Amino acid sequence: MASQTEKMSQATAHMDEKIDLQTISSRIKNGEITRVVVLAGAGISTAAGIPDFRSPNTGLYDRLAPLNLPYPEAIFHISYFSHTPEPFYAIAQARHPGNLKPTISHAFLALLAKKNVLHFAFTQNIDGLEQDAGVPTDKILWAHGNWKSQHCWKCKTEYPDDLMKKAIREGEVPYCLKAECGGAVKPNVVFFGQSLPFEFDEKQKLVPEADLMLVMGTSLKVAPCSQLPRLVKEGTPRLLINMERSGDIGNRKEDVCLLGSCDQGVRKFADELGWREDLEALWKVAVDSMKDDREFEGGPSLDECIARVASQMDERLKISEGHKRMLEGHLSNKLAQIMSRPASQP
Ligand code: OAD
Repeated sequence: MASQTEKMSQATAHMDEKIDLQTISSRIKNGEITRVVVLAGAGISTAAGIPDFRSPNTGLYDRLAPLNLPYPEAIFHISYFSHTPEPFYAIAQARHPGNLKPTISHAFLALLAKKNVLHFAFTQNIDGLEQDAGVPTDKILWAHGNWKSQHCWKCKTEYPDDLMKKAIREGEVPYCLKAECGGAVKPNVVFFGQSLPFEFDEKQKLVPEADLMLVMGTSLKVAPCSQLPRLVKEGTPRLLINMERSGDIGNRKEDVCLLGSCDQGVRKFADELGWREDLEALWKVAVDSMKDDREFEGGPSLDECIARVASQMDERLKISEGHKRMLEGHLSNKLAQIMSRPASQP
């Protein structure tokens, strides 16, 4: 492993070197890069069967169009959820990690840890697949929370797992066990309008310590995670593995963009590192060791869930249109009565 002085002279020697995947890989192999900080997003889980948010047509937000939400992110906004939790629960079953298995991209994060080069990982995903792949829990922050527990959004009373699973399976909104409260129960995922876990501030201090930042499967559109790559010191390589360019990655001369699927990208990276066999083996073990949880299998697809709640919401709109017409009729009758009365009558 290179000493600090060696690293400094290597850094000076690298000043004019063009950085690409090969250079990054050889720096890992020769021990110059030992602290990789990762930021992951929905794109590492699409191959596991969870659509991302913002990809045109296939992403969740485009597919929510039939719901006529005030704006797509409203489904995950705490103020919208507080009065209209139905859309969230209508799609919860289709987005629940239930029977999903980690992808090879998740396994790559576990491999970085196994090779002792994972300094820290931040994930915006709530599916927990990084842990299923074997990423040690002290090396990762689930910055947007997880599905593992839940509480009433209003009075914070905890809610039992079995009742939560039942609600998700049935697409029904679970309500607080305290009858006088009436708040909807929310999994402990971070909604827009809520704070990130308190550890986030502390953990983001690890980013400037990185000698490589790896950004995977994220559009970098949601703060504060989207700001993490900017905290990497100038001169330190940032590697993006994503379908498209995101954030400001590509603007620094030490940035490398590997555009395409995350799974292809990590395989290519592993090939350069000479880790391909280890990666495939680790992934296989992770997938094989997961028990088949069929609890959420066989349910409606995401689009079926959306269509169902859209029709229910349409019904509600029809009722309110009918109600509106009834009120209009009632008011115009009243007005007609008033107009036809003699002026002196009260
Ligand atoms: P987005 O949907 O915004 O971005 C996913 C990115 O991954 C896009 O750039 C896709 O092109 C890319 N992508 C999709 N599939 C891929 C694949 N197989 N291989 C490579 N790239 C792929 O998702 P996030 O950036 O994770 O927050 O979204 C951030 C936050 O916005 C989420 O955590 C969620 C959302 O609203 C909350 O709900 C609070």
